[in-house]
Formats: sequence, structure tokens, C-alpha cells
Amino acid sequence: MKRVLSGIKPSGELNIGGYGGALSQFVRMQEEYECFLFIPDLHAVTVPQDPKELLRRSMDIAAYYIAAGVDPDKAVIFFQSHVPAHAELGWMMETQSHFGELGRMTQFKEKSEGRDSVSAALFTYPSLMAADILLYQATHVPVGDDQKQHLELTRDLAVRFNSRFGETFTVPEPIIQGIGSRIMGLDDPSKKMSKSNPNRNSYILLQDSPDDIRKKLARAVTDSEMTVRYDWDRKPEVSNLIEIYAVFSGESIEAIERRYERQGYGVFKKELAEAVVGKLVPIQERYKEIVDSEELVRILKNGARKAAEAAEQTLVRAKRAMGFVTF
Ligand code: AMP
Ligand code: TRP
Repeated sequence: MKRVLSGIKPSGELNIGGYGGALSQFVRMQEEYECFLFIPDLHAVTVPQDPKELLRRSMDIAAYYIAAGVDPDKAVIFFQSHVPAHAELGWMMETQSHFGELGRMTQFKEKSEGRDSVSAALFTYPSLMAADILLYQATHVPVGDDQKQHLELTRDLAVRFNSRFGETFTVPEPIIQGIGSRIMGLDDPSKKMSKSNPNRNSYILLQDSPDDIRKKLARAVTDSEMTVRYDWDRKPEVSNLIEIYAVFSGESIEAIERRYERQGYGVFKKELAEAVVGKLVPIQERYKEIVDSEELVRILKNGARKAAEAAEQTLVRAKRAMGFVTF
């Protein structure tokens, strides 16, 4: 059985980067894989969070999963903090992680740079992420390109644990799709699109109004060449916009290039905005219906119960393998 585990942290509002790299993949993969899709709230608190904001964003992400098309009858949807096995196996994985390898993680380096106080949890973040994945014996993990290094470490930890203590964990494969796995800022194609950028025009949030989306895309940087061509080395700004177009329209890069080859950037950007708006408006409507509903609470409670059952089996195996007393 092919099994997926993945999630999006509730540490900022969801932007179209998270949609391209992760959420759109979840929706596709649920047809073929047994999916465990969670909200890694324990990971969000590795950097300071305002409790009220965290609470709201956590329910928001859950609602967006469903609004975007994740089907709770097909996928198990739950909060990480509702399944204690994550923290328990996370601790066990910390004992198998080396100080040096955790220090080499680029996400840690980026997030800790220039801060005076960095939490110990930010440092051990990848050990907990490995636990998330290994608990469910996931075979595949769909993520954006920025998570590649964490996935490599997860694989190393699984292999290390299995060889020290006997076969316990499935070694997972990352799934980083070509298109949409690295959506860059609209103001600067050398930086990934992120809510932490102080320039609001650099990102599009899933909750942005159609007018904001149109304005932001109209202002997106391009070049002076005026041809819509996909070439990351020479035309990173336009290539990024073509990728966003491909994610939201489902069309191939070639088809988009062909259509806009001679049209100039004005028409291209307008129609790109309509493709994004056309996809996001129905998601936003569904989100509004579900976010404060009893139905969402029921889905998440149910999900936590199912996830805990699956996780418990692996946790007990791992504990036995390490030599903990189990009855
Ligand atoms: P995060 O919000 O950091 O938990 O990220 C959630 C998922 O979205 C992860 O799989 C990330 O790799 C992916 N992701 C985040 N930002 C981007 C981006 N700009 N482009 C593509 N994927 C992204
Ligand atoms: N680290 C991931 C991110 O920043 C979020 C995450 C935590 C995750 N645990 C995971 C993603 C397990 C996939 C699988 O995006």
C-alpha cells in the first residue's frame, strides 16, 4: 500500500507557494494513496507564536485543506498536537540525530540567523519531522523543494534506526513535483514566496481578494524583453509567473508559452490573474462555509482518532526495538 504523510505549518497565512508545492499535490494524491494529512502545530511553535493567532491559523489551514478538495472520507486529516505519539517518537528520534547534522540544516541556519534567542526546538525540528513521517510508515512525502534536506535527514534516520535496532521504519521517498515546487516572490525571483517577506506585494495569500490578486500580479516584476518564454537562467521573473499559471490552469508550460509568445506581458499578466482568481474564489467560498462549522470539528476529531491508532502501532514497535519495557 502506498501511503502519504504531509502537512503545512500554521505559522503564517497560507500563500500560493504552499498551494503549489504541497496542497495541490495532496488533492491529486488522495486518489491513489492512503493519505495522512496533518497540521504540524508543534512545529509552528519552534518560533514565537501569538496564541490567538496560532489558534485561528490552525483551524484556517484545516479548513483550507478541505476547501481545496481534500476529501475527509479519503484522507485522514488531523492536528499533530492531538496525537501524542509525535512528541514521543520525536524524542526518540532526537536521540538518534547528531548535533552536527542538525546544525547543517539550511532552514535552521536561515531561521536562527541574526536572532539572539533561538529555541532548542528550532534546532531539533527535523527530528520531530522525521517522527511525523516514520510513525505512519509513509512511503511518499509530497513537499516543496525547500523540504528536500529535511527529507534526506528523515531517510538517514530511518536507515540508522533500522540498522541499529532492527527493521522498524519504512524509508520514505520525497515527492517534489517539477512545476510549483518552488514558487518565488513576485518582487524578487531569487527568494521563495513567503509570508515572512515584509513586502505584501511579494506574495499572494489564499485569502486575498480578487482585486488584490489582480493588483499584485499587475505589479509583479518582469524584464524588458517582452516575450513570454520559460527560461529560469535568463528570465527568472517571467518563468516564475509561467509556473504560477501552470499550477492554477493545469496547462503545460509549452502551451502557455505558445499562446502568449507574441502577446506581450500585459495580456499575459491579466489572464494569469484570471486563472488564479478563477481557482481561488471557489476555494475561498467553501472555506467560509466550513471554517467555523461543527463538521470541521468532527472531521478533525475523527482524524485524530484514526491517526493515533496508526501511529500507536509504530510507536510500540520502536519502543520495543530500543529496549523500553512494554506490557
Ligand atoms: P510551510 O508553510 O513552511 O509548512 O510549507 C508547507 C509546504 O509548502 C511545504 O511542503 C513547503 O515545501 C511548501 N512550500 C512553502 N513555500 C513554498 C513555495 N514558495 N513554493 C513551493 N512550495 C512551497
Ligand atoms: N517542515 C515542513 C514545512 O516547513 C512541515 C512539516 C512538518 C512536514 N512535519 C512534516 C511536512 C512532515 C511533511 C511531512 O513545510
